[in-house]
Amino acid sequence: MKIAIFVSGNGTNLQNIIDEVESGYLQNVEISMVMTDRYCYAIERSLDKDIRTYVLDRKTFSEDAEHNLIDEEIDLIVLAGFLTILSPEFTAKWGNKMINIHPSLLPKFGGKGMYGAKVHQAVLEAGEKISGATVHYVTAGVDEGEIITQGSFEIEEGDQVADLQRKVAEVEKIILIEAIKKISETI
Ligand code: GRF
Repeated sequence: MKIAIFVSGNGTNLQNIIDEVESGYLQNVEISMVMTDRYCYAIERSLDKDIRTYVLDRKTFSEDAEHNLIDEEIDLIVLAGFLTILSPEFTAKWGNKMINIHPSLLPKFGGKGMYGAKVHQAVLEAGEKISGATVHYVTAGVDEGEIITQGSFEIEEGDQVADLQRKVAEVEKIILIEAIKKISETI
Protein backbone atom coordinates (compact mmCIF):
# COMPACT_ATOMS: atom_id res chain seq x y z
CA MET A 1 0.00 0.00 0.00
CA LYS A 2 1.45 3.37 -1.02
CA ILE A 3 0.79 6.24 1.36
CA ALA A 4 1.22 10.01 1.28
CA ILE A 5 1.55 11.78 4.62
CA PHE A 6 0.52 15.42 5.12
CA VAL A 7 2.14 17.26 8.05
CA SER A 8 2.38 20.76 9.56
CA GLY A 9 4.27 20.39 12.80
CA ASN A 10 6.71 18.42 14.86
CA GLY A 11 6.08 15.21 12.94
CA THR A 12 5.83 12.87 15.93
CA ASN A 13 3.18 10.83 14.17
CA LEU A 14 5.15 10.87 10.92
CA GLN A 15 8.14 9.50 12.82
CA ASN A 16 6.00 6.76 14.39
CA ILE A 17 4.88 5.66 10.93
CA ILE A 18 8.46 5.74 9.59
CA ASP A 19 9.63 3.67 12.58
CA GLU A 20 6.93 1.03 12.16
CA VAL A 21 7.56 0.74 8.42
CA GLU A 22 11.27 0.26 9.21
CA SER A 23 10.56 -2.25 11.99
CA GLY A 24 8.50 -4.30 9.55
CA TYR A 25 5.31 -4.03 11.63
CA LEU A 26 3.69 -2.05 8.80
CA GLN A 27 4.99 -4.56 6.32
CA ASN A 28 2.65 -3.74 3.47
CA VAL A 29 3.22 0.04 3.69
CA GLU A 30 5.47 2.26 1.60
CA ILE A 31 5.73 5.99 2.35
CA SER A 32 5.71 7.46 -1.17
CA MET A 33 5.77 11.12 -0.23
CA VAL A 34 5.35 13.71 2.50
CA MET A 35 3.62 17.01 1.85
CA THR A 36 3.52 20.04 4.10
CA ASP A 37 1.92 23.47 4.08
CA ARG A 38 4.77 25.15 6.00
CA TYR A 39 8.37 24.85 7.08
CA CYS A 40 8.30 22.61 10.13
CA TYR A 41 10.40 20.01 11.94
CA ALA A 42 8.52 17.17 10.25
CA ILE A 43 10.40 18.06 7.04
CA GLU A 44 13.72 17.18 8.69
CA ARG A 45 12.39 13.77 9.68
CA SER A 46 11.18 13.14 6.15
CA LEU A 47 14.34 14.31 4.38
CA ASP A 48 16.46 12.35 6.85
CA LYS A 49 14.88 9.22 5.39
CA ASP A 50 15.13 10.45 1.78
CA ILE A 51 11.36 10.53 1.41
CA ARG A 52 10.10 12.71 -1.44
CA THR A 53 8.99 15.88 0.36
CA TYR A 54 6.93 18.78 -0.98
CA VAL A 55 6.43 22.14 0.71
CA LEU A 56 3.28 23.67 -0.77
CA ASP A 57 1.52 27.00 -0.44
CA ARG A 58 -1.48 26.79 1.91
CA LYS A 59 -3.68 28.78 -0.47
CA THR A 60 -3.31 26.37 -3.35
CA PHE A 61 -2.49 23.26 -1.34
CA SER A 62 -5.36 21.06 -2.53
CA GLU A 63 -4.75 21.71 -6.23
CA ASP A 64 -0.97 21.38 -5.95
CA ALA A 65 -1.20 18.22 -3.86
CA GLU A 66 -3.49 16.71 -6.47
CA HIS A 67 -0.83 17.20 -9.14
CA ASN A 68 1.74 15.40 -7.00
CA LEU A 69 -0.60 12.57 -6.12
CA ILE A 70 -1.86 11.97 -9.61
CA ASP A 71 1.15 10.16 -11.06
CA GLU A 72 1.63 7.95 -8.04
CA GLU A 73 -0.98 5.34 -7.33
CA ILE A 74 -1.50 6.48 -3.77
CA ASP A 75 -3.76 4.14 -1.78
CA LEU A 76 -4.02 6.22 1.37
CA ILE A 77 -3.40 9.80 2.50
CA VAL A 78 -2.62 10.21 6.19
CA LEU A 79 -3.16 13.63 7.76
CA ALA A 80 -0.71 13.50 10.65
CA GLY A 81 -0.88 16.84 12.41
CA PHE A 82 -1.89 18.65 9.22
CA LEU A 83 -3.45 22.10 9.68
CA THR A 84 -4.78 23.31 6.32
CA ILE A 85 -8.43 22.63 5.56
CA LEU A 86 -8.56 20.81 2.23
CA SER A 87 -10.96 21.89 -0.50
CA PRO A 88 -14.39 20.20 -0.79
CA GLU A 89 -13.34 18.93 -4.25
CA PHE A 90 -10.25 17.33 -2.79
CA THR A 91 -12.08 15.68 0.10
CA ALA A 92 -14.83 14.46 -2.24
CA LYS A 93 -12.25 12.82 -4.46
CA TRP A 94 -9.92 11.38 -1.80
CA GLY A 95 -12.18 11.14 1.26
CA ASN A 96 -12.53 7.36 1.30
CA LYS A 97 -8.75 7.09 0.96
CA MET A 98 -7.81 9.73 3.53
CA ILE A 99 -7.59 9.51 7.31
CA ASN A 100 -6.90 12.09 10.01
CA ILE A 101 -5.69 11.87 13.59
CA HIS A 102 -7.36 14.26 16.02
CA PRO A 103 -6.30 14.79 19.65
CA SER A 104 -9.72 14.35 21.33
CA LEU A 105 -12.53 11.85 21.63
CA LEU A 106 -14.60 13.04 18.66
CA PRO A 107 -17.30 14.19 18.24
CA LYS A 108 -16.29 16.13 21.34
CA PHE A 109 -13.76 18.96 20.90
CA GLY A 110 -13.53 18.84 17.13
CA GLY A 111 -14.22 21.21 14.26
CA LYS A 112 -12.69 24.37 12.85
CA GLY A 113 -10.30 26.09 15.24
CA MET A 114 -9.97 23.01 17.45
CA TYR A 115 -6.37 21.95 17.06
CA GLY A 116 -3.22 21.57 19.11
CA ALA A 117 -3.18 23.05 22.59
CA LYS A 118 -6.61 24.62 22.09
CA VAL A 119 -8.20 21.18 22.20
CA HIS A 120 -6.55 20.30 25.49
CA GLN A 121 -7.38 23.68 26.98
CA ALA A 122 -11.03 23.20 26.08
CA VAL A 123 -11.04 19.67 27.51
CA LEU A 124 -9.63 20.93 30.83
CA GLU A 125 -12.03 23.89 30.96
CA ALA A 126 -14.98 21.55 30.40
CA GLY A 127 -13.89 19.50 33.41
CA GLU A 128 -13.67 16.25 31.42
CA LYS A 129 -12.57 13.13 33.28
CA ILE A 130 -11.27 11.34 30.20
CA SER A 131 -9.76 12.39 26.90
CA GLY A 132 -8.08 10.62 24.06
CA ALA A 133 -7.55 10.63 20.32
CA THR A 134 -9.50 9.62 17.24
CA VAL A 135 -8.57 8.33 13.80
CA HIS A 136 -11.30 9.02 11.26
CA TYR A 137 -11.96 9.27 7.55
CA VAL A 138 -11.89 12.81 6.17
CA THR A 139 -14.96 14.57 4.80
CA ALA A 140 -15.62 18.19 3.88
CA GLY A 141 -16.94 18.81 7.41
CA VAL A 142 -13.91 19.31 9.65
CA ASP A 143 -13.41 16.30 12.01
CA GLU A 144 -16.80 14.84 11.02
CA GLY A 145 -15.90 11.75 9.00
CA GLU A 146 -16.53 8.15 9.99
CA ILE A 147 -14.56 7.11 13.07
CA ILE A 148 -12.11 4.25 12.52
CA THR A 149 -10.70 3.91 16.02
CA GLN A 150 -10.27 5.78 19.29
CA GLY A 151 -8.06 5.49 22.35
CA SER A 152 -8.58 7.15 25.73
CA PHE A 153 -6.86 7.97 29.03
CA GLU A 154 -7.87 9.34 32.41
CA ILE A 155 -7.38 12.99 33.22
CA GLU A 156 -5.83 13.26 36.66
CA GLU A 157 -6.21 16.01 39.24
CA GLY A 158 -3.82 18.83 38.38
CA ASP A 159 -3.21 17.74 34.78
CA GLN A 160 -2.18 20.65 32.57
CA VAL A 161 -2.18 21.10 28.79
CA ALA A 162 1.33 19.62 28.58
CA ASP A 163 0.20 16.48 30.45
CA LEU A 164 -2.68 15.97 28.05
CA GLN A 165 -0.36 16.51 25.09
CA ARG A 166 1.98 13.81 26.39
CA LYS A 167 -0.85 11.35 27.08
CA VAL A 168 -2.48 12.02 23.72
CA ALA A 169 0.81 11.41 21.93
CA GLU A 170 1.06 7.97 23.59
CA VAL A 171 -2.47 7.07 22.51
CA GLU A 172 -1.98 8.44 18.99
CA LYS A 173 1.13 6.36 18.53
CA ILE A 174 -0.93 3.20 19.06
CA ILE A 175 -4.19 3.99 17.27
CA LEU A 176 -2.73 5.63 14.15
CA ILE A 177 -0.42 2.69 13.53
CA GLU A 178 -3.26 0.21 14.14
CA ALA A 179 -5.57 2.10 11.75
CA ILE A 180 -2.94 2.15 9.00
CA LYS A 181 -2.17 -1.52 9.54
CA LYS A 182 -5.84 -2.47 9.41
CA ILE A 183 -6.36 -0.54 6.16
CA SER A 184 -3.16 -1.99 4.66
CA GLU A 185 -4.49 -5.49 5.26
CA THR A 186 -7.64 -4.81 3.24
CA ILE A 187 -5.76 -3.50 0.18
C1 GRF B 1 -1.32 15.57 17.18
O1 GRF B 1 -1.81 15.74 18.47
C2 GRF B 1 -2.46 15.39 16.22
O2 GRF B 1 -3.56 14.77 16.76
C3 GRF B 1 -2.81 16.81 15.90
O3 GRF B 1 -1.56 17.49 15.88
C4 GRF B 1 -0.62 16.79 16.67
C5 GRF B 1 0.47 16.42 15.71
O4 GRF B 1 1.69 16.39 16.20
N1 GRF B 1 -3.61 16.88 14.73
P1 GRF B 1 2.90 15.89 15.32
O5 GRF B 1 3.14 16.87 14.21
O6 GRF B 1 2.61 14.50 14.81
O7 GRF B 1 4.04 15.88 16.29
